[in-house]
Amino acid sequence: MIEQSIQFIDTHAHLSLTQFEQDREVAVERATHAQVARIIEIGFDLASSRAAIALAEAYPQIFAVVGVQPNHLNELPEAWLSELRAMAAHPRVVAIGEIGLDFYWMKAPLEAQEQAFRAQLALARELGLPVVIHSRDAATDTLRILDHAARGQPGVMHSFLGDWSFAQGCLDVGFMLSFSGPLTFSKSTALHEVARLAPVDRLLTETDSPYLSPNPLRGQRNEPANVALIARQLAALRKEPLPDVAKQVWTNAEQLFSKLRA
Ligand code: NI
Repeated sequence: MIEQSIQFIDTHAHLSLTQFEQDREVAVERATHAQVARIIEIGFDLASSRAAIALAEAYPQIFAVVGVQPNHLNELPEAWLSELRAMAAHPRVVAIGEIGLDFYWMKAPLEAQEQAFRAQLALARELGLPVVIHSRDAATDTLRILDHAARGQPGVMHSFLGDWSFAQGCLDVGFMLSFSGPLTFSKSTALHEVARLAPVDRLLTETDSPYLSPNPLRGQRNEPANVALIARQLAALRKEPLPDVAKQVWTNAEQLFSKLRA
């Protein structure tokens, strides 16, 4: 029997950002060498959503997610939602995101954030696509909206950094939890608990590159190759073999982002 080699997936990266201007191609190559066989490139406004599609067209291992994040609502053209709808028809667009609420930066009032969030949840439902959720300092309102507008809809809470109570709320709505660099920090004890307690079929891994580098690379620019460190930490916390965890995360990602299988 041939043992299948481990394959990792980075479900959330921003390779289109200027931090990768000098070495984007090399960063993608490093990911391949680190056995990161798939990368999901996430849009946060219209331009980065278009860039995500361009990357997905350029690299067979990259897929795209299109959406407008709550910190980027202010300069949207009137027809932004129909532009997103048109982009989402692309065969390599696997979800709508990142969308949600951000009360840390609060660049738009709650009402405007909620309206854009709900409009994109409805768009995803209309198109039969999953959603990638951004929620910063906004757990209660995020759950209120998801509970009302996204129950039964497939989705993931990206870069999950909350406690078990918030995790339970997300799981209850039916969402997956995606772990990022902070899972590797020794002080993230509440997060470690979430990683131990979460059901095995709800776990995902991501880098959120270029942000949130895991240990021991904290403070450096993050890149998709580093998702292996997060999978390793997830396996250690759950006391499960790394190949099993990697395989399960891969399966979970294909379950959530069904266009990955097409
Ligand atoms: Ni992001």
